[in-house]
Amino acid sequence: MKQTWWKESVVYQVYWRSFYDSDGDGLGDLQGVIEKLDYIKSLGVDVIWLNPCFESPDVDNGYDISDYYSIMESAGTIGIWEKLLEEIHKRGMKLIMDLVVNHTSDQHSWFKESRSSKENPKRDYYIWRSSKDGSPPNNWRSYFTPSAWKYDETTGEYYFHSFAVEQPDLNWENGELREEIYKMMRFWLDKGIDGFRMDAIALLKKQEGFPDSENPDDIRYLTNNPGIHTFLRDLNEKVLKHYDILAVGEVAFVGPEEGLKYVGENRNELHSLFHFEVCDEMPRMDLKKFKAIQKRWYQGLWGRGWNSQFLNNHDHTRQVTRYGNDREFRTQSAQLLATMIHTLPGTPYIYQGEEIGMTGVHYSSIDEYKDIAFHNKVEIEVSKGRNPQEVLEELRPLARDNSRTPMQWDDTKNAGFTKGTPWIRVNPNFKQINVENELRNSDSVLSYYKKLIQLRKENPVLVYGDFHDLSGEDPKIYAYTRCLDSEHWFIIMNHSNENSSYILPKSLSLSGSKLILANYPEIEDGNEISLRPHEVRVFKITQ
Ligand code: NOJ
Repeated sequence: MKQTWWKESVVYQVYWRSFYDSDGDGLGDLQGVIEKLDYIKSLGVDVIWLNPCFESPDVDNGYDISDYYSIMESAGTIGIWEKLLEEIHKRGMKLIMDLVVNHTSDQHSWFKESRSSKENPKRDYYIWRSSKDGSPPNNWRSYFTPSAWKYDETTGEYYFHSFAVEQPDLNWENGELREEIYKMMRFWLDKGIDGFRMDAIALLKKQEGFPDSENPDDIRYLTNNPGIHTFLRDLNEKVLKHYDILAVGEVAFVGPEEGLKYVGENRNELHSLFHFEVCDEMPRMDLKKFKAIQKRWYQGLWGRGWNSQFLNNHDHTRQVTRYGNDREFRTQSAQLLATMIHTLPGTPYIYQGEEIGMTGVHYSSIDEYKDIAFHNKVEIEVSKGRNPQEVLEELRPLARDNSRTPMQWDDTKNAGFTKGTPWIRVNPNFKQINVENELRNSDSVLSYYKKLIQLRKENPVLVYGDFHDLSGEDPKIYAYTRCLDSEHWFIIMNHSNENSSYILPKSLSLSGSKLILANYPEIEDGNEISLRPHEVRVFKITQ
């Protein structure tokens, strides 16, 4: 297998607006990220993924870009961004930026021109269709709204949007548009960034002819359409392959077979991907399902293409709340989930705050939620005559704001995130859960993350080692090995709130093995291992 820095790296995702506010306006900013770089470095991570900070009316928290060449005023200036890049590199870390090229903001000058007249040279930069018998051109819905089309009075046609109405999709069929995007990518790459996280990248190619769907609620028609790989190969040929970078794509609704087409080492498209089989299909931990997903992706990709490992990000509820136990076993559970992500095959991603075991939030009023997707969903449900409070209860567990609350630095006002009024309410548990507390405690989630990250760095077996699941259908225990040449590691964990035990297969003996990492005090084991609630152990086996 080819060895590269991005396979060996641990990536830390910075959702800057909720990271650290340096100027007291209640919104995090790039200067705030600079001020906290030593903290990020102290974790041992190698790469920072920065959520979009380009000029934007901020309808979808920066994923609606109105100018690709400038920085959002509330985030900082181009000068501060350059300083950030310099300071990241000075500390031996890398920076990947969020690339949002499936759509722009409706405030982008391209769209303003495009909507102004049918004859405008930029008309074809977006997707326009006339109505079908007085209705939208087809029956598709978007991720955020009941229709993927918005009628525009100026020219009497509809434009297409896969997300919010304010996020019109770009028309990648237009060669001039593609060249504009490539030019913009080179602009940032030439400034020295180390790659892109590619937003909604599998949506670039639209289904030929925009046919009606038999089941419009199943929005798979938006993504992974025939022809997508031609676009990606062109993008690779014209831009990516000329730089030593990581291009990791957000590729929803694909299994390993399709996934490999995006990241196959001989395909010249992307380097790695985020698939969503876990986050989209597993509202809560379902260990049997999780194991099956891991196994399939390993078998489908190993040696041929590279995966990513994550359980949460700015769109997905915090992992200890969603997939673990955020109450009495919060610390152990956060440590267990981290161990799993860092020892399964693929590059591990840490979402800010995960390393201190931050949890989801429980706002009691709809107004406290800020996310456009959440509000649109509430509106759709309430318009059916449903009770708003009932809708809130139903949508709360997976609301995106669960993971967007401010980083909890200490137990002072607003968790030390801002001196002003935070743009979104701080999780009230910040008095207990915060960086300062975690730093003081050698058994904390944070201390554990540091050890774990170091471990992966020092042991290529955790990066390049083969993977074998040894726990089959067990609904509580996950046990597997990672093996590279003569080196064998055994990882075992109990995903439950009770004690559980596991009998070692005959082929495996732990006698003479070394316990490398654990989240409970060590106990002696025979060939039956008893694990306490959310216990995890990592062994190096002597053969
Ligand atoms: C995926 C991003 O992660 C999400 O936050 C955003 O709303 C959509 N893409 C649209 O850009």
